[in-house]
Amino acid sequence: MYIKRLSLKNFRNYNEATLEFGPEKNIIFGLNGQGKTNIIEALYFLQSGRSYRSTKEKETIKFGSEYARIEAEFEKSEIKNNILFFISEKKSVKLNGVPVGRLSQIIGNINIVIFTPDHLNLIKEGPAVRRNFLDSFISQLKPSYFKNLIDYYKVLKHRNNVLKSKNKDMLSTISVWNEKLASLGSQICEMRKAAIDKINSKINNVTSGFEDENLVLKYLPGIKGNIADKENILKQLEESLEKDIEYKMTSVGPHRDDFEIFMDEKNIKKFGSQGQQRSCVLKLKLSECEIIKEKTGEMPPILLDDILSELDEKRRHLFIENIKNTQVIITCTDKEFLKDMAGFYFKVEKGTVKRIN
Ligand SMILES: Nc1ncnc2c1ncn2[C@@H]1O[C@H](COP(=O)(O)OP(=O)(O)O)[C@@H](O)[C@H]1O
Ligand SMILES: [Mg+2]
Repeated sequence: MYIKRLSLKNFRNYNEATLEFGPEKNIIFGLNGQGKTNIIEALYFLQSGRSYRSTKEKETIKFGSEYARIEAEFEKSEIKNNILFFISEKKSVKLNGVPVGRLSQIIGNINIVIFTPDHLNLIKEGPAVRRNFLDSFISQLKPSYFKNLIDYYKVLKHRNNVLKSKNKDMLSTISVWNEKLASLGSQICEMRKAAIDKINSKINNVTSGFEDENLVLKYLPGIKGNIADKENILKQLEESLEKDIEYKMTSVGPHRDDFEIFMDEKNIKKFGSQGQQRSCVLKLKLSECEIIKEKTGEMPPILLDDILSELDEKRRHLFIENIKNTQVIITCTDKEFLKDMAGFYFKVEKGTVKRIN
């Protein structure tokens, strides 16, 4: 897949901007606060249908404007497509001129892999960051997963409200929520486990030249025993009820999932250097690209927001060399980071963008 053009209107600090991208390397450079990440944010809309930076989409509308528009042309299996997002009080989406009713209809249609400095801390951070990584990865491959996930969190919220409620009658509804959580939960856990197995089958073969420690991901489900067995989950939800009422939250389920990464059998979170942890994340991300390619037949475009400055020179070059045969859109403050890499160069300054070569 390849993003050919992006047009913005009243999006973040842009009045109007159009970028015509090249099929391989695209470098967007400029000083801090000029609008580079805003472009990455707009591009990521194409994949997820929403902002990864703010949950309130209205915040992406340029201050003082009524609406924002993101439009893009992309080529998939050599067929040209067009997608349009219109953000005002409400959001609407059109794919090739046809209104799209549900977000889940876009997800999985356009595959894009994003890589931001937050991902570099994937290993060091708490489990929520790792669950997010798995969720966005699996959602791209299986849109039904995304739907399950949304349903699961809705049901979880209901159960937690019951736990917090002082009304004793509410407690009688808990078995309904338990049933639903067990059913959706086991599906989510199974898909997460399958995704981790898939990554394990790729991660040690996606790069050359990097550290060659053997990496293994280990799934840590928020459920004991057989995750595929709904009855098992149900039993645990029932058994934890007393404790859950005391703590006013649900203690069992995939919302408590995590995974660990072992490097030559040592836990990389505890024993890996910062450099080793970062190489590991690069490999994770490249595995994600390979798995998407296997599923769709095409490498997804890769968005790299300001991560090059976070890597040492050796890893920076190795990483770029290991991304082959796909479109990459890179932002950086200094194009010198890339020496004389061939590609399309765009300069961003105060909400304007201009191709310079
Ligand atoms: N809704 C908005 N309307 C206008 N400007 C905005 C809006 N949201 C963010 N900005 C501006 O966008 C700029 C940051 O852009 P960003 O893409 O994050 O910069 P960088 O080039 O450092 O990646 C800031 O100057 C910020 O004030
Ligand atoms: Mg930025």
